[in-house]
Amino acid sequence: MFIERVSLRAIRNLRSIDFAPGPRFNVISGENGQGKTSLLEGIYLAATSRSFRTSRLQELILHGEAIASSKLVVSQDGGSHEQSLGIQAAGGARQARVDGKRPPSLAAFAVKTPMVVFHPGEVALSTGPSGERRRLLDRVVLHTAFTKMAEQIAYTRAMRERQEALETRGERATDLEEWETLMVSHGLAVCEARRDASERLSHVAEHAFHRIASPSLVLRVRYLTNVPETEDAYRHLLAASRGRDRARKSVAIGPHRDDLVLEVDGHAARQVASQGQHRAIVLSLKAAEIDVIHAARGVRPVLLLDDVSSELDRARTQALVSFLGEQRGQVFLTTTRPELIESEGLGGGSDRHDFRVERGVLSVAQG
Ligand SMILES: Nc1ncnc2c1ncn2[C@@H]1O[C@H](COP(=O)(O)OP(=O)(O)OP(=O)(O)O)[C@@H](O)[C@H]1O
Ligand SMILES: [Mg+2]
Repeated sequence: MFIERVSLRAIRNLRSIDFAPGPRFNVISGENGQGKTSLLEGIYLAATSRSFRTSRLQELILHGEAIASSKLVVSQDGGSHEQSLGIQAAGGARQARVDGKRPPSLAAFAVKTPMVVFHPGEVALSTGPSGERRRLLDRVVLHTAFTKMAEQIAYTRAMRERQEALETRGERATDLEEWETLMVSHGLAVCEARRDASERLSHVAEHAFHRIASPSLVLRVRYLTNVPETEDAYRHLLAASRGRDRARKSVAIGPHRDDLVLEVDGHAARQVASQGQHRAIVLSLKAAEIDVIHAARGVRPVLLLDDVSSELDRARTQALVSFLGEQRGQVFLTTTRPELIESEGLGGGSDRHDFRVERGVLSVAQG
């Protein structure tokens, strides 16, 4: 599976970009602020319906434009399909299309072209709050237990309704029990899918860490939820926390509080890991994400690597390059220093395609 054509319109500073990437390594170089990350963001948008930089998609629209869009032609199993996503400035609505038709859901759209992104902000996976790690779990769930995505939507809806009822009508509102029953059944399904995703991830990530960081360090990755295992216990806990949830205007118990606990030698990574160890953890989690999606889907996800040369120490560059050397799928990599990628001997010869971005315009780079 690989992307054979990319067409972007009014994505950040990229007014109009059309190009045909190669099936393996695509190196996109350019000075700071020229549009490299925006290019990857545009590709990611058409594959996943999301951005890896923001949850407010209107930010992606070129200032002053009414619509932004991204379209990919994806080659797979001898055939090809086209998928596109448009964003409207007014209201921010997303319009997804697969071969010109509206997909049954955004999850059905996002599952078509597996893609894994690796960008500098992602160190938050290891250093930041739990939201990043839940999103990682959910990206894995999307590809390993697609139907469970509907459980999550149903859970969130029930949770909001119950909170609304609590806050507007109080702890004796008659519909609370009904919402809580839905929260329990959908919430447990979400937990089950995430626990499974976590198990798949942890195995690969722990191994990868062993290779990337020092072999004497041990990474442990495990799923953490405050949701009780049985329906009865969960329902009782919800009923008992009505007062608190009402007062705090938020729901204390549920999968929306889940986390993926990361420990280095038995201590919380957030508290003890060094900068280099945080990077190694993130790289390990990413390697796991790629591996798990590949195993589940039978296709290699397209890899987007943003800003590869920035503040990389030598050891990590080597770890990254050897990791990339093992990748058999399509890779898009941005850098301000293409010569650095060259000197590491990555993807030489006809496997490699070079492009350059300057002030929002893409050209084929002359070797
Ligand atoms: N909605 C928008 N409309 C127009 N321009 C935008 C919009 N959002 C961001 N920009 C601009 O687009 C330019 C390209 O940003 P981008 O993040 O893609 O640069 P980059 O090449 O990745 O740079 P760096 O090497 O510093 O990461 C920046 O000048 C940014 O200010
Ligand atoms: Mg950038």
